[in-house]
Amino acid sequence: MPPMCMYSATSTWFVTSFHPTHYATRALGGVGLIIQEATAVRPEGRISGNDLGIWSDDHVQGLSSIVSLVHENGGIMGIQLAHAGRKCLSGDTPKAPSALPFSDKYPMPQEMTLSDIDDVVHAFRDGANRAKNAGYDLIEIHAAHGYLLNEFLSSNANKRQDRYGGDLIHRATLLLEVIAAIRQVWSGPLCVRVSAEEYLEDGNHLEDTLRWLPLIRGLVDVIHVSSGGVAPVQFPVFSGYQLSFAEAIKKLGFTVIGGGLVTEEGMIKKALSMGIDYLYCGRKLLRDPYYVLHLAKNEGKMDLIPKPYERGFKE
Ligand code: FNR
Repeated sequence: MPPMCMYSATSTWFVTSFHPTHYATRALGGVGLIIQEATAVRPEGRISGNDLGIWSDDHVQGLSSIVSLVHENGGIMGIQLAHAGRKCLSGDTPKAPSALPFSDKYPMPQEMTLSDIDDVVHAFRDGANRAKNAGYDLIEIHAAHGYLLNEFLSSNANKRQDRYGGDLIHRATLLLEVIAAIRQVWSGPLCVRVSAEEYLEDGNHLEDTLRWLPLIRGLVDVIHVSSGGVAPVQFPVFSGYQLSFAEAIKKLGFTVIGGGLVTEEGMIKKALSMGIDYLYCGRKLLRDPYYVLHLAKNEGKMDLIPKPYERGFKE
C-alpha cells in the first residue's frame, strides 16, 4: 500500500486510534508492505493541518503504536518522510527553492536561505532517527508529487543560482544531502519516491529522471515510481499509466515499486511480466482492505487467508 494522507491526525499532529486501526486492517488483509502516509519532518512541511508529524520526540510514542499493531498482525511497516514545500496548506508560511507559488490558489512561498536548507536536511535526519526509534521497517523519502524535494529537482519550481539550482545534477544536491544525512542514522531499507514524468514543458521528463537517478545508485535500496504533481496540469490517467516509467527505471538496475490504477488481475500480471519488482495499490485498498485476500482466493492460495476469516472466503 503506498502512502496516502488520511488527514486524520489531531490538531497537534498526533496519531489517533484511527491510524493503528487503519494500517493494521491492511496488514490483516495480506498487504506485504504498508508505507505510511506523508509524515512531516517540519511543522511547515505539512501538506494540511491534519497531517501526521515526526518533528518532535513527542510524536514517537503514537507512531510506534501504529508499527506495533501492524507487526502484531503480520505486516511490514514503512513510513514516508515528507516536506510539503510550496504545497504547504497548513497555515504556516510555505518555504520553497524559489518564490514561485504552485498556483494562484496557493500562498506565495518564501525562497529558502542556505540556513533553511540546512534545517531541512537535519529535519529529515532527525525524522529518520525517530522513525527508527518507533520501529519502522523501511523509510521512504518523499521526492515526488511537487513537494519540497521534487521542487528542488524540477526546473519548473527551482530557479536558484546557487549550488542547489541550475543544471539537473545541481538540482539533485538537496536530495543527495538528505539521503546522506538519513544514512548517518539509518542503515535499514531506504526508498525514494519520484515523479518520473512531470508532464510539463519546463519540468523533468522520463529521460531527465533516468539521467539523475544514477547519482543515488548504491545509496538507496528501492525507487517508488510515480508521476506528476509539480504544477496543476491534467495528464493522461489510465490503468497502469505509470508502469512504463517503472520499467525504464528497473532497466537502470534499480529495484522498483510501480503502480497507478492497478486494480485488476490482468494488469497485475502484466506489470510483473514487465519486470517490476513490487506493485502498489492505493485507492483500491482504501475501498477494499481485503483486496489481496480476494486475489489469494482467486489463485487458490487459501493458506494466505487469516484463519479467523477462512469461513468468509469459502463458498
Ligand atoms: C495519495 N497519494 C500520496 N502519495 C504520496 O506519495 N504520499 C501521500 O501522502 C499521498 N497521499 C494520498 C492520499 C490519497 C487519499 C490518495 C488517493 C493518494 C498518491 C498515492 O500514493 C498513489 O500514488 C495514487 O493514489 C495512485 O495509485 P492508485 O490509487 O491508483 O493505486
